[in-house]
Amino acid sequence: MSKVSRFGVSLERDLLKKFDALIKKLGYENRSEAIRDLIRQRLVEEEWKDEKKESVAILGLVYDHHRRELQEKLTNIQHKHLSIIIASMHIHLDEHNCLEVIVLRGKVHALKKTADQLLATRNVKFGKLIMATMGAELL
Ligand code: NI
Repeated sequence: MSKVSRFGVSLERDLLKKFDALIKKLGYENRSEAIRDLIRQRLVEEEWKDEKKESVAILGLVYDHHRRELQEKLTNIQHKHLSIIIASMHIHLDEHNCLEVIVLRGKVHALKKTADQLLATRNVKFGKLIMATMGAELL
């Protein structure tokens, strides 16, 4: 565990009021934990700017499996990137719609490229990439 430092922050009263209202709504017990999370979030964003860095991501896709060749296209893309797609889960939402959750691990540029291919596949109704972190550099 690393040592804890304390520091003072000056900011406009109205800005602080808004921040306090927000963190209360989000369920934070105190400002420190909320600020720690903001900092971690920003550091993860920075990690994703380094294209050569190793990272992990979660990709969610919603699509109608009755759409011609769609399922096959999505599966083909995944088979072409075996080394970075480490897990996938398929949920049948109703008679037509499926949710696919794909976990990717590898270099940032490869993760983005593969995710973009899947997201851009025609007739995917919803797609979202969550860029996560290996966590080792965060406390
Ligand atoms: Ni399905």
